[in-house]
Amino acid sequence: MAELATLAIIGAGNRGKDVYARWALEHPDEARVVAVADPDPERRNGLAERHGIPEDGRFASWEALLDGPRRADAVVIATPDRLHVAPTLRALERGYDILLEKPVAPTLDETLALARAAAEAPGSVTVAHVLRYTPFFSTLKRLVDEGRIGRLMTMQYTENIGYWHFAHSYVRGNWRRADESSPMILAKSCHDLDIMRWLAGAPCRRTSSFGELRHFRRENMPEGAPERCIDGCPVGDTCPFNAVTFYVDGLAETRGWPVSVIAEDTGREGRLRALREGPYGRCVYRCDNDVVDQQVALFEFENGVTAAFAVTGFTEENTRTLKLMGTRGEIRGHLEKGELEVRTFGRPGLRGGAVRSGEPYQIIRVPAGPGHAGGDDGLMRAFVDRIRRRKAGQDPGDALTSLQESLDSHLMAFAAEEARRAATVVSLGGFARR
Ligand SMILES: NC(=O)c1ccc[n+]([C@@H]2O[C@H](COP(=O)([O-])OP(=O)(O)OC[C@H]3O[C@@H](n4cnc5c(N)ncnc54)[C@H](O)[C@@H]3O)[C@@H](O)[C@H]2O)c1
Repeated sequence: MAELATLAIIGAGNRGKDVYARWALEHPDEARVVAVADPDPERRNGLAERHGIPEDGRFASWEALLDGPRRADAVVIATPDRLHVAPTLRALERGYDILLEKPVAPTLDETLALARAAAEAPGSVTVAHVLRYTPFFSTLKRLVDEGRIGRLMTMQYTENIGYWHFAHSYVRGNWRRADESSPMILAKSCHDLDIMRWLAGAPCRRTSSFGELRHFRRENMPEGAPERCIDGCPVGDTCPFNAVTFYVDGLAETRGWPVSVIAEDTGREGRLRALREGPYGRCVYRCDNDVVDQQVALFEFENGVTAAFAVTGFTEENTRTLKLMGTRGEIRGHLEKGELEVRTFGRPGLRGGAVRSGEPYQIIRVPAGPGHAGGDDGLMRAFVDRIRRRKAGQDPGDALTSLQESLDSHLMAFAAEEARRAATVVSLGGFARR
């Protein structure tokens, strides 16, 4: 593959600038960012300067970028959740290959409309389901497909959001309100639903779900807590959600996420100003959040595989943990530790006072890597490779996370949310046909 891929970035925020555009900077022989659209001049020009994009490649809106002459081989759409559909439809009309952030759309109808448009368009939509590109989950998928634990029967899967991460994103931050972004099981967990569906090897048949916003509510506010942590809270010394302790002291050495989200100026003064004026300095019990802080869901797939899923903000760890159970063994996994433990059923015998399998346990270590355990880089490598193959006149093949492939996880999220709200079992058959 000779030629490099040219990219236009729509939405120069955390994902657009710090993840996707950064990858291009680190791989100058493979990709180059040639245009950017963002209404925020600081972000737009910041990205443009770093990539040497001249004035005529800088746009204040996605419309201006997409309506003019074709700017690049592909576009990356990394706008806020509620701003994915319109630019994607326009980019499809213009024949672009697209890397689209998840969730692809905030409603079921818009998700289906996008899938229909993508199926008819010459370009393609790759969804940023980064977990599929991690060494951890690709190894797990291979083990399941090779039959290392026989036929997969059931799985337990926990998305441990981490108490500080939950407070940052789902109490104070961008995903705190379903009407401004989407329900948490879509916004956060569509990655995990996608992985469960991938491992199960079949679409989901039905689901039930429970959960609510229980803790981060006004009635749980400590007595005398001020509006902002910086104003001297009586429980500031012991509160695990103290914004000053977290953003200013605990993360003093951090310049990237999550500090880069609260302020462009990540110096001490810049952080303190952000906590005095911006959303991230608010008491977690006095915010305008409404998304659940814990949710469980059961899924049954069309081949009979079942899954019990939990997503929670009440964990010290910030990772995914799971256990897959098959007819000939089980696999336990811990994403952050990069560890897959395979236990196969052998001849049972008495060991250490208990009956255990005759087979030794196998611990497979997979490199965790930065950026979603290596998934961010893996996704960009796969996306750019496809663009370059197409440019070289070769068949780019289907993306591992094409929109078609990602549709099921989104349907699972909408169905689980409906099941939670209505306290009922929801069948997915009707969803896909809408
Ligand atoms: N794949 C993942 O694992 C992952 C992780 C985090 C976030 N996300 C998703 O990525 C998307 C972006 O998240 P983020 O954290 O980068 O948010 P962000 O707020 O940091 O960035 C969004 C950017 O879009 C810009 N924008 C707003 N309106 C625009 C318009 N009309 N035209 C062009 N740009 C516009 C904003 O100014 C901002 O710079 C969200 O949908 C989010 O859910 C995905």
